[in-house]
This record gives sequence, C-alpha cells and structure tokens, in this order.
Amino acid sequence: MSLSFLRREANQVRAITQGDLRSIMRMVDTAWRVHIRVPPVELGTKIRALPGFLAEDQAGLRGFMVMEPQHPHVALIIAAGLRDTWNVRPYLDLLLPEVERSVRAEGLPALAHIGNVAWLVDDLQARGFEIREWIVAFERHGTEPPPATAAPARLRSAHSSDLSALLTLDGLAFNHIWRKSAGNLNEALASADSFTVAELDGQLVGYTWYERYNRHAHLTRLAVHPAYQGRGIGAQLLHSAIVNALDSGVNMITLNTQETNGRSRSLYERFGFVFTRQRMPVLWKNLP
Ligand SMILES: CC(C)(COP(=O)(O)OP(=O)(O)OC[C@H]1O[C@@H](n2cnc3c(N)ncnc32)[C@H](O)[C@@H]1OP(=O)(O)O)[C@@H](O)C(=O)NCCC(=O)NCCS
Repeated sequence: MSLSFLRREANQVRAITQGDLRSIMRMVDTAWRVHIRVPPVELGTKIRALPGFLAEDQAGLRGFMVMEPQHPHVALIIAAGLRDTWNVRPYLDLLLPEVERSVRAEGLPALAHIGNVAWLVDDLQARGFEIREWIVAFERHGTEPPPATAAPARLRSAHSSDLSALLTLDGLAFNHIWRKSAGNLNEALASADSFTVAELDGQLVGYTWYERYNRHAHLTRLAVHPAYQGRGIGAQLLHSAIVNALDSGVNMITLNTQETNGRSRSLYERFGFVFTRQRMPVLWKNLP
C-alpha cells in the first residue's frame, strides 16, 4: 500500500469553524445519510453558533455532527451527516467521543438524539444510547367539524411582540428537551399559516400554531400555562385551530405528541384524531 494512499485515507477530526459552512451545507443537500432536526432556514445560523465537529481527509469533508446544549440537562444532536462513500461505524468512532467530551466539558450530563433514521439509531444504541421515550403521530381525516367547546379565554392571532411571553410560556409548559428556542418561535410567528394565542386575566395563557401544505395541515404546537390547565383552554385552542384549518380547505391534520402524554392524547382523540402507529424514539446517553 503506497504512502500517498495512506495519507489520503487519514482522517482528521476538529471543531467546526465558520469556513466549513459551505461544505457542510453541500453535504446536507447531496448526501444520502443526513439527519437534521431544525427548520432548514435555521440550519446555517445553528451551525455557525453551536458546537460541532467534523472529520475530513484530503478530499475534504467526510462527516459532521452538531449539538445544541440545553443547560443544565442535555445536549441534543441537531445535525449529523456523512459522505456517501464512508461507513457509519468509523464515522461514529471518530466523531462521537469528541462530541461527548465537549458535552461533558460544557458541564452537561447527557447527550440525546430524537429521530428514527435507521443508519444512526442502530449504531447509537450500540454505543450506549437508550430509548427514553417515544413520540407518536396522530392524524385527523376529513372535514367533519370538531365538537363544540366552551370558550373560557379570548383568542387572537399572535404577533411578533408576543415573543417574550411565548418563550416564557413554552418554558413552563414543556420539558426542556421539547422547548422551542426564541429562533423557532420567531420563525413560527413570521411564517406559520396560523398562530393563535389565548388570553385570560390580562395575560397570555396558551398558544397553538400550524403549517399548511395544500390540503394538509401539521399542528406543530399546543400548550397552556400550567396554572391555567384543566379549564378548557387547550380544547378551545384545538377547536379553533381545527375549524380554521377546515375553513381554509384542509382535509387532513397531523400532529405529534409523547406516547406517555395521556392528557394530550385523550384531548386529540376527543377531537377526531387517530393514532397512526408511527413512533419515533428519543435516544439518551448519560455521560458520567
Ligand atoms: C395538553 C394541554 C395543551 C391541554 O390543555 P388544557 O387547557 O389543560 O386542556 P383542557 O382543560 O381543555 O382539558 C383537556 C383534557 O385534559 C383533561 N385534564 C385537564 N386537566 C387535567 C388534570 N389536571 N389531570 C388530568 N386530566 C386533566 C381534561 O379533562 C380534558 O379531558 P377530556 O378531553 O377527556 O375532557 C396542556 O395540558 C399542556 O399545555 N400540556 C403541556 C404541553 C403539552 O403536552 N402539549 C401537547 C403535546 S405537544
């Protein structure tokens, strides 16, 4: 085997820098095995701002992994990908230890991955990741109106000045791993097809938004302030989102929730959603 062949095969692992953005985005656009857990428009900003590592050889980028720290609980793998001609095992053997070291150095006790891409899930499980919970998918078909509901709160369209109240509310309603960033919420405020907030006692107590793709709508979020739950506000928001979507010509609505979230599941079922049997794992590794 010639020396030049060995040199060409040698991989170097290093932290991602600004100058790597173009080659990573090219890989995201063209490689077979890419996992991205952020809206495409946010990807460039996230890669620039968040910690990540890449492997490269003389021909350039071989693979990368970017994580989002969620202090003080966990870091989430939000982007990963590798060159079509490389294998997942050496990719993880090289990058995962670096990623885990940097997560520990940030003072975070765990690394997590949400998704069901087989090429990543199987090999992460072989490296100490365990399934902590499942996300399940629900669908509502047809144009049957939802059951009538009480209207305890005042509903209105959200606007950009709601951002800070929404961020606080999202932090209160969701476990850290499911929280939306200010960037996510800003993006949704600017571009969601429908974003509604509920007000009561002069404060913002709930919100929901969905995106529409022709006759299909995906309900991305439904949340009520913990102090105001159990008063019918969740049902009111869900009712309004469904009516709104049906009025705009939608005939299928999808959404995801946690398998163990009995309260939201029964609410969705009462409003005509059915469990599709599609499940997605949350993989978790404690880093001692
Ligand atoms: C799910 C959620 C939006 C429901 O909002 P809510 O305002 O509490 O809902 P409602 O008061 O309209 O009640 C909805 C159902 O929950 C039940 N419920 C309400 N409070 C409850 C409580 N403390 N314990 C058990 N069940 C309760 C209601 O009886 C109702 O059930 P029904 O549909 O069979 O009548 C809210 O609990 C929440 O924000 N949870 C955290 C975020 C979340 O899980 N979002 C959805 C998943 S993405």
